Amino acid sequence: MIKYKENASLLPHNTFGFDVKASMLVEYNHEDDLPHIFSDERVAGRKFLHIGQGSNLLFVNDFDGVVLHSRIKGIKIASQSDDMVLIECGAGEVWDDLCQWCVQHGFYGLENLSGIPGEVGAAAVQNIGAYGAEFGDLAVAVAVYDVVNNRHAIISAADCQYGYRMSIFKTDEFRNRFVVTSVLLRVSRNGELNLEYGNIKAALLERGYSLTAHLSKRASRMPGVKSITLSGLREVILAIRQSKLPDPAVFGNAGSFFKNPVISSAKYKQLSATWPDMPKYDVDADFVKVPAAWLIERSGCKGRRIGDAAVYDKQCLVLVNRGKARPEEVVKLSDAIIRTVSDRFGITIEPEVNII
Ligand code: EPU
Repeated sequence: MIKYKENASLLPHNTFGFDVKASMLVEYNHEDDLPHIFSDERVAGRKFLHIGQGSNLLFVNDFDGVVLHSRIKGIKIASQSDDMVLIECGAGEVWDDLCQWCVQHGFYGLENLSGIPGEVGAAAVQNIGAYGAEFGDLAVAVAVYDVVNNRHAIISAADCQYGYRMSIFKTDEFRNRFVVTSVLLRVSRNGELNLEYGNIKAALLERGYSLTAHLSKRASRMPGVKSITLSGLREVILAIRQSKLPDPAVFGNAGSFFKNPVISSAKYKQLSATWPDMPKYDVDADFVKVPAAWLIERSGCKGRRIGDAAVYDKQCLVLVNRGKARPEEVVKLSDAIIRTVSDRFGITIEPEVNII
């Protein structure tokens, strides 16, 4: 079923909580609806924007064009072997519902990506990531509707060119060409839990878990030993996220507002002479990623506000709408942060959020 709505409020479709309008909002629940939608006179030839839950978007103005939203549902096992399972999932499923489904079925791979807001189609576009895992690591292929050639197609994960919060679906060339309809992911029945990233181990120890017992069947069954399981790890990840990231129902936000900048190892070495506690994640031999949150905090932006737009005090990477912020205040705050960080560190940070 296809629903067309003119002059539609996007308030329920953006987690910043801005009451902007789209000239037309189209919602549909089957991939075969797409050829009809794009040949409909209300849509054909007009500017369009496909959204998911709007959890990574900042609408600065009303959208003079067509906003599309998929309600394509369904999570199913496409094929399986003793170890591997291929999961097919509709673009309109909520990402975390898919994570929960996999964990409930004992499938490893998505647990570290638990709790990321948004829908599956957007996850494939954005290459969402957290706690050492990324969508692209699990993707086998992405099914799309090709708007330009009016046909359905399958794009292999390699051809999606996944990088840090990047894919071909975000490039100027393909942004308005492909609509993601479903994804094919590879998960495993006998995976290993990835506890390496950031504060996962600290959070497990705080909760009384052994960090090694899960590696041996015998140790994990020993009385008094709290061994981490797939579902246990999901719960811990959800708890870490909840303690650090604001709930959009309380303060509108779009998660990390900025990307963590990648700089050369030489530049990092130079900076760390002045800032010996500057954290980094190694990218390769020549480049490192520096946490934007740290740069923002150390340049004095913690708690900074413009009107009701503010830097979230528990995680400086997140900008929040404290109630009545206007979109332009968020943009002004973002610009001011970018300038301040650049003045102090000579590093230009970039928004991760898509500013429309
Ligand atoms: N830090 C500060 N000040 C703060 C917050 C953090 O100095 O206010 C420091 C921390 O001490 C830590 C470092 O910054 O050393 C990194 O912080 P954290 O581990 O919280 O993660 P991040 O690098 O800031 C990234 C992703 C998140 C993802 C987490 C966990 C980006 C842009 N963000 O944040 O993704 O959940 O790692 O894997 O890559 C998102 O994309 O919306 C998102 C939330």
